[in-house]
Amino acid sequence: MLQNDLLLRAAKGLSVERAPVWLMRQAGRILPEYRATRAKAKNFVEFVKNPELASEVTIQPVDILGVDAAIIFSDILVIPEAMGLPYEMIEAKGPRFPSTIQTKADIDKLKIADAGDLDYVMKALALTKKELNGRVPLIGFCGAPWTLFAYMIEGSGSKTFSKAKQFLYTHPDLSHQLLEKITQSSINYLKGQVAAGADLLQIFDSWAGVLSEKMYYEFSLKYISKICDALSPLAPVTVFAKDAHYAVKNISQTSCNSIGLDWTIDPLKARQEAGSKTLQGNADPCLLYADEKTILAETHSMLKAFGKDRYICNLGHGLYPDIDKEKVKFFVDVVKEYKW
Ligand code: CP3
Repeated sequence: MLQNDLLLRAAKGLSVERAPVWLMRQAGRILPEYRATRAKAKNFVEFVKNPELASEVTIQPVDILGVDAAIIFSDILVIPEAMGLPYEMIEAKGPRFPSTIQTKADIDKLKIADAGDLDYVMKALALTKKELNGRVPLIGFCGAPWTLFAYMIEGSGSKTFSKAKQFLYTHPDLSHQLLEKITQSSINYLKGQVAAGADLLQIFDSWAGVLSEKMYYEFSLKYISKICDALSPLAPVTVFAKDAHYAVKNISQTSCNSIGLDWTIDPLKARQEAGSKTLQGNADPCLLYADEKTILAETHSMLKAFGKDRYICNLGHGLYPDIDKEKVKFFVDVVKEYKW
């Protein structure tokens, strides 16, 4: 039994006393405690694969920031790795894949991952669930098929993801084959996460915004929708499609429970588009560089615009590493103390 189930009630559209708050990248470099735990691992990939360390940093923001949920410390890139495409994390630069997907043979070689291939994540979830002891819900996650596809073809981050988009334009059939394999792997993975203790799931489509609207529906939302259909009977699902504000209406037609928003969409406009779905977001992380007076005023106006019910307070993207931890804590407190 959960002592604090605000997040789950909000995601399911049930009434709440106040809006729950958690932050994308809350387990991360803004916390000196995270940096200290990370230093115990040889590198990022090994860190993610260590259930004790992953569990420790997952719980830190619950203790230190007082957020209403924990999100399992892992990365979206564990799925390509489980499919047979290992990644590295280059310090201060980001992910890199030593080999990438270029041909049909490369796609055929990839396996459809199952939860057993990601045993270390299942162990981290089970351990975290036990340590949390019902204090707050535990969020599991995966990357959206399109976002993972983009990294697997491109081999690293990119401003334009032009190589990945070139593949969509030049090999649409192969693209669908790869997206389908990623989708099946993600479904197996998320089912495993629910069995291991995840209470809610989020699908991160970080690179939604590089696609045109038409291509977004064909190459991304179609597959996200399949994942929602397979998982929403088991746990509430949030779809976060960064920079795809045009898609809110179409996302609301999937079987997801809530829609994550970045700061480029107005809360009232999003409400009109999203039907009865719960909304999550959408403060600009850069707001947390401002003084407390500004943070308070902007946060209050955001809370007022979204309203108390069917709302999960969050940022519109992850925290940046140089944001002051005290400002993050201030933001969380402002949300928790707001008089509805
Ligand atoms: O607190 C949480 O949000 C949970 C943990 C989490 C991480 N990555 C840990 C992490 C989650 C949910 C992710 C998802 C993820 N990973 C996404 C989707 C969300 C988004 O930001 O759009 C993406 C695109 C990735 C891929 C990835 N991982 C990148 C591009 C980077 C480098 C960027 C950076 O901040 O350095 C990572 C590394 C990463 N994943 C870090 C953390 C805490 C920082 C690495 C470090 O500790 O040095």
